[in-house]
Amino acid sequence: MSFHGSDIEKIEEIYGIPKENIICYSGNVNPLGLPYSLLEKADMVVHAMESYPDREYNELKKCLAEYVGTVKENILPGNGSTELIIDTVEFISSKTALMVAPTYSEYESELKKRGCNIRYFILREEENFKLNLEELKGELSNNYDLLLLCNPNNPTSSAVSKDEIMEILLECRKYNTMCMVDETYVEFSPVGEDISAASLTESFDNLIVLRSISKFFSAPGLRLGYAICGNRDLNNLIMGRKMPWFLHNIAVFAGCEIVRDKNFINDTIHFIDKERKRVVEKLKSSEYLKVYEPHANFIFVRLINTDMTSEELFERAIMKGLMIRDCSDFRGLDKGCFRFCLLTEEKNNMLTDFILDTVK
Ligand SMILES: Cc1ncc(COP(=O)(O)O)c(C=O)c1O
Repeated sequence: MSFHGSDIEKIEEIYGIPKENIICYSGNVNPLGLPYSLLEKADMVVHAMESYPDREYNELKKCLAEYVGTVKENILPGNGSTELIIDTVEFISSKTALMVAPTYSEYESELKKRGCNIRYFILREEENFKLNLEELKGELSNNYDLLLLCNPNNPTSSAVSKDEIMEILLECRKYNTMCMVDETYVEFSPVGEDISAASLTESFDNLIVLRSISKFFSAPGLRLGYAICGNRDLNNLIMGRKMPWFLHNIAVFAGCEIVRDKNFINDTIHFIDKERKRVVEKLKSSEYLKVYEPHANFIFVRLINTDMTSEELFERAIMKGLMIRDCSDFRGLDKGCFRFCLLTEEKNNMLTDFILDTVK
């Protein structure tokens, strides 16, 4: 049986372990908790309920635009990046789509719900899950309506550079292919500026970039995400179909506060970078593990020189209350891979000690 990263209630039910006793290394949420400024203004968060949000969400768009360095007209807020995945698939008439895989499963579910014909461009493990640009460019000549790319990619934590994305977009333009780049994890990358396609939305109207507040700002319950898109027709189409006040005022207030919290942003970047380096080095010492270079706040690992499967490792870990993500259900992967996200130093040690002890 496989579980999604946030299926903690399902785990509680099946394994009979109270969810308070489970440490979730599969949700990919920043361990520093909510941004400091939001906690300081907890009272104001509550009082935000007393008024309707602005129907146009102008203030929120302005704050998000400032944060990413664009104009507010290019920002589309959404109920988590999930809503924007659904919008993209719905409003770009996608009869045929190309998905770079293995990747986040929601893209496929949404495409399938709409009867889309999906092809997969598989990242090869022997190429360290690095995108083969020339091959992808060749594949694009098959005329797709939509290309879906997750950057950094969930679950492999691999990344594509902004220059490569530009080449992809130029190729997509030739075939009228729209490109969705999901940057849910981009702020965690040690080279975020070099891989983010956000600035390319100024010059490419066949690009929509998705961002999330859930992971980096540690607020998955807020349900706030946004898209960056320079294509005004598409923006008007998406925003024009939203129900009035589709985001509540707490998301509006909190969203504006969160992205201005420079101390929290810097602390997160430094903490994740330090832990990522430390944990990778620690796991690399084992002859039973192959650790792939991570760009996100999670680490993708293959079990080697052992008969143990990722499913078995998951089972043993969950019995200790440690919930990792067995990646065997991802398209293009098998029973040897797993993923876990970085939590506090103590929790990272707890999990890595367990893994090193169990696989040997
Ligand atoms: C790659 C990716 N995109 C989008 C999402 C959904 O995020 P949100 O909470 O913003 O809807 C997730 C959640 O795990 C994810 O991993």
